[in-house]
Amino acid sequence: MKTLIKLLLPALLVVNASFGQKKIWEETPEQQKERMSWYTNARFGMFIHWGLYAQAARHEWVKKRERITDDEYQKYFEIFNPDLFNPTQWAKKAKSAGMKYAVITSKHHEGFCMFDSRYTDYKVTNTPYGKDIIKQWVEAFRAEGLGIGFYYSLIDWHHPEYTIDGIHPQSATTQEEYDQLNKDRDMAVYREYLKNQVREILTNYGKIDILWLDFSFPGEFGKDRNDWGSVELAKMVRELQPGIILNDRADLLDYAGGWDIKTPEQFKVTKWPEVNGKRVAWETCQTFSGSWGYYRDEHTWKDNKQLLVLLIETVSKGGNLLLNVGPTARGTFDHRADNALKEMGEWMKYNNRSIYNCTQAPDDFRVPDNTLLTYNPETNRLYIHLLDYPLQNFFLKGYKDKVKYAQFLHDASEIRITAPRGYGMQEQMADSDINLALPVNKPNVEIPVIEVFLKD
Ligand code: GLC
Repeated sequence: MKTLIKLLLPALLVVNASFGQKKIWEETPEQQKERMSWYTNARFGMFIHWGLYAQAARHEWVKKRERITDDEYQKYFEIFNPDLFNPTQWAKKAKSAGMKYAVITSKHHEGFCMFDSRYTDYKVTNTPYGKDIIKQWVEAFRAEGLGIGFYYSLIDWHHPEYTIDGIHPQSATTQEEYDQLNKDRDMAVYREYLKNQVREILTNYGKIDILWLDFSFPGEFGKDRNDWGSVELAKMVRELQPGIILNDRADLLDYAGGWDIKTPEQFKVTKWPEVNGKRVAWETCQTFSGSWGYYRDEHTWKDNKQLLVLLIETVSKGGNLLLNVGPTARGTFDHRADNALKEMGEWMKYNNRSIYNCTQAPDDFRVPDNTLLTYNPETNRLYIHLLDYPLQNFFLKGYKDKVKYAQFLHDASEIRITAPRGYGMQEQMADSDINLALPVNKPNVEIPVIEVFLKD
């Protein structure tokens, strides 16, 4: 009997755990993987932060940072008129940079809606511009074959029933002050509003591929899933758009189906992120400079190589990169963003095979110094990105029985597998190593890539 229990115990625990797990919807890990495969193959998307804050041109958090009141902020609403907005041009720029999908702010923390909502007057159709930005944007981006995503801010610094918290422009310090500030505010009303609006954006614009809810900050003077009604909200999202990919910021990490991707922001992960010991799908969102919204006087722009490394390194750890543009209030991209996209596109044009459909290389491939590896499991090819161009001899340690052929990716020119050049070089190689004979001159590519055809 004892042995029987011992044998059955693990199975019982598993059954119990899956019964016990909190669920938004039913889906096996395989089904989830399949549902998300277009996205994990795409690897590279554009984030777009656009709203009234583009006019202040000093960060999308300007209302909070400068503790601006609704009255003072109103001037931006009254003059908003992006006369040069041309979403087809934006979509073409994203596409030629190599991006496969895009996520736009339908509403940011300031509360202003870039779409025509039934539930508020604080929306783009009531500004001098007068038209639904989101509608035009969706049509243009979809026409270019890009995946469509909406960012929607859970936080709202304009809604009169949204209770004032620690990150609100009118934030306070003591509980008494908060009680006083919030005595006439009812979060339940806002909760309903937010649900209604998410329903609108997921109903009125056709198939939506990604929903980006932002963000929870549990704790003192914070907000969590109970404030947002996240469980009900996520259930509705799954019902309305069963194929959608949902980010992880509605505070539902412990709910099956409560999120699809982890979203590390503005820093690099040291390894493929895990949840409960398992590698998960992830996307890092990053800016060209320090701000998401258009920031005229901000000058910490990353250079082309930094941006490419960001992309390659992300894929080398199994993730996606969502790279942000903050358009101006005229509706154009900053010239620095244009330039950055153009340069990335130049590289992507010749090297995107090391990005699309690629992931982290299997563990038995040693990573040579100053390189990043990616791997395409379908074609069984390995990509070695040369961050610092080596001098002629390039050892691949332990690769001896693995390599069939090697070439530069940008021009498909053979890289021969030969004995190393130079006195005493051969002795530095082990039996299991091979040497690739690289040309002396670095090819005219920011980061050259070696495409290695592996043996089956
Ligand atoms: C943060 C910021 C926000 C930005 C977002 C992008 O949560 O609040 O301004 O939209 O990150 O990930």
